Amino acid sequence: MSRNLKGRDFITTQEWSREELDRTLELAAELKKKQKKGIPHRLLGGKTLFMLFYNPSLRTRNSFQTGIFQMGGQGIYLTPTAVYRPALAGDEIPYVTERMSDVARVLSRFGDAISIRIYGESVNWIYGKGNQIVREFAEWAEIPVINMECDMFHPCQAMADMLTLKEKLRVLERKKVVVSWAYSGGIKPVAVPQSCVLNFTRFGMDVVLAHPKGLELDPEIIKWAKKNADESGGSFEMSYSMDKAFEGADVVYPKSWGSLEFMPPKVPKVDEEGMVELMNKCKDWIATTEKLDLCARDVIYMHCLPADRGMEVTDEVIDGPHSVVFDEAENRLHAQNAVMALVMVGCE
Ligand code: CP
Repeated sequence: MSRNLKGRDFITTQEWSREELDRTLELAAELKKKQKKGIPHRLLGGKTLFMLFYNPSLRTRNSFQTGIFQMGGQGIYLTPTAVYRPALAGDEIPYVTERMSDVARVLSRFGDAISIRIYGESVNWIYGKGNQIVREFAEWAEIPVINMECDMFHPCQAMADMLTLKEKLRVLERKKVVVSWAYSGGIKPVAVPQSCVLNFTRFGMDVVLAHPKGLELDPEIIKWAKKNADESGGSFEMSYSMDKAFEGADVVYPKSWGSLEFMPPKVPKVDEEGMVELMNKCKDWIATTEKLDLCARDVIYMHCLPADRGMEVTDEVIDGPHSVVFDEAENRLHAQNAVMALVMVGCE
């Protein structure tokens, strides 16, 4: 039996058992069915979620806010400048910031969960600092903390992706899924590919991670992905060729991410120019119909969105018959509703 998840934080899928992830996906599917039939599922009547966004968002903000409203509660949108900016000890500025431990304890007295998005420029691209901040909130909050994407993980996206794959494929074990880097003119965090390889390997899939040299993910994440694959009966491999990786794939997930080699702590200060120079040499890493032709006939094309059209993917692919990107976006709502219901009230 799965443990009651009431009060649990959701910072990575890795910290939840496979049984807990399965329970979440089951509830997500149930809530989705109810919503489609117009059956109310007001599991969070009177509950409040504080949503703290250090970065912009279309999907995450609107799916969380819509979701908690559908379940009878309210979401309060907070930005760091709308409150005294929550700061770690040592990063404080009098009457501009407020010690994070105080913010977390105050919000805990009012509401029922806190969700946080923080990565990139808001932490000066210091890899790991966003995750440290989410964990600092979790340490001090007396209510659950939900990670809405830090610089290491995007667990809500990972659960929406898993819900989508379960709907499309039914059986996930031994299905070949390629998480590939793709070109973009901008710098994106590694949270999505890291969460993808961690979660896909939990579900017994044959996972291939493809990227050009210099765009490696965090070695700790790679270790966990290998261990997950060993434990789940799947596999985990890496490739420096998008074409080779795509051969025979059942699912492809090509998206851009930045190089950890050009971010602190690897270098003293983020080197955006160096990163862009490296990425500009890899403009052929784009999802095209020719590349999809290398895959299995019914290959599924995934992307968390926002996608850089013409760089990460052609319009033909993202708007084509293999693409499930809008199902993925919709499933953010249902997967997060399940997470919120489980951590805020239990739902056993
Ligand atoms: N995929 C995702 O997290 O989208 P947003 O950045 O719009 O929230």
